[in-house]
Formats: sequence, structure tokens, C-alpha cells
Amino acid sequence: MTMSDPFRLPRGPLGHLAGWLMARRSSALSEWGVDALQVGGGETALEIGAGPGVGLVLLGRAGAGRVIGIDPSAVMLAQARRRIAASGMDGRIDLREGVAERLPLPDGSVDAILAVNSVPYWDDPARGLAEARRVLRSGGRIVTVLQPQSADEFEREAALEHDRLAAAGFDVLPPLVRPLRPVDACLIAGSVGAAAPRGSRASDRSRAEAGCTS
Ligand SMILES: C[S@@+](CC[C@H](N)C(=O)[O-])C[C@H]1O[C@@H](n2cnc3c(N)ncnc32)[C@H](O)[C@@H]1O
Repeated sequence: MTMSDPFRLPRGPLGHLAGWLMARRSSALSEWGVDALQVGGGETALEIGAGPGVGLVLLGRAGAGRVIGIDPSAVMLAQARRRIAASGMDGRIDLREGVAERLPLPDGSVDAILAVNSVPYWDDPARGLAEARRVLRSGGRIVTVLQPQSADEFEREAALEHDRLAAAGFDVLPPLVRPLRPVDACLIAGSVGAAAPRGSRASDRSRAEAGCTS
């Protein structure tokens, strides 16, 4: 990944194209993450690095009372705004320009956080995850989903994402693996002082079962 990577900070026509590709590529990943978070009961859900807004709409449909999306890219915010308007959920989804490293939210104000193919793109993942921990209430949940760009990177990136969440002070479960094309995806669930959610189905495997060693 470089600073000119259109998936890192989508800008201009290439950024528009990247957003369109992301929406196609990540909808299955966002569905998995939203299922695992099990939002409901009017909870407040936050997606960090919301990109084209697929996850935000899914969080709204899943029953979150309030959904907040954060992303630094004007191109992504525009795509997300259009997607939210088309979903008819404008009133419940609050889109904000910002970065993970400085979340514009009070301490303990969020019940559930989603980040799909997002953490590795942040300038400072440790600081961003510390911010996520700050804004989550006690008992709140975080789910990150990651589909590395190549199979060679899978084990290293899955382990890194898991270790980053643990280092930020979340109670973290072992990554789950879902076989996907062209590369498997992993889901990491954590919580603040309570049992973490599990987004499992028969075809999901833990990293150990999948042969991940670290
Ligand atoms: C690969 S895209 C994933 C977007 C979306 N989650 C999805 O799966 O379609 C990465 C996203 O992270 C955003 N991003 C980059 N740096 C960020 C930061 N420091 N904090 C929050 N989001 C960031 C980018 O603008 C981009 O929308």
C-alpha cells in the first residue's frame, strides 16, 4: 500500500472507480461483520472507514437505532451519501468526515463498531484502535473484517489485525476464517469487558483450524 493507493484514500476519478469496486467486493464482508455484531434494540453503531456506505446501510437494516459513519475521503462520503439516500435511512445514518485516529465522538457513546478492510489503511492503527476503545461503552463490541489482497499475506495480516486489537485492550477472540474468492477473509471480534460476538456459520473456521500458526 502506498499513499497513492486509491483504496487507501480514494480521490478523483480513480477514487470513484475504487469505491464502486469496494462496494461490490466488500458487501459479503460487510454482511458477515454486521451479522457478527448483532446490533439491535436501538443501539448506536459506528463504522470506521465506511467507504461507499454498504456497511452503514446494513447496520441500519439490522436494527441499529443510530448509525454513524466516519471516513476522510470526500469521494467516499459522496458515494455513501447517495447509497444512504437510496436506502431511505437518511434520518438514522449520520455521516461524518474524519479519521479513526481522532474520532469526533464522546467517551463510551457507542455500542458496536464495524471496520471492514479498514484498519490496515489507517495512518496510525494503534491510535485509531485506542480511539475505538475510548468511544465504546463498557460491554460494547468491535468487529473487524479483512480480506488481504493476496493469499500470501493472509496469515500475516490476520495475525497483525488480531494482535492490534488485543494491544488496544479489547478482549479478542481468535480470528474466524471464511473461504472466499479470490482470497479468504477473516473476522476478528472483540469487546470491552464482556463476551465478544461470534459471526459464525458452518463454513467459518477459526484461524487454528485453518492452519494459521501465529
Ligand atoms: C479499502 S477502503 C474500505 C471501505 C469500506 N469499509 C468497504 O469495505 O467498502 C478503506 C477506507 O478507509 C478509509 N480511511 C483511510 N484512512 C483512514 C483513517 N485514518 N481513518 C478512517 N478511515 C480511513 C478510506 O477513505 C477508505 O474509504
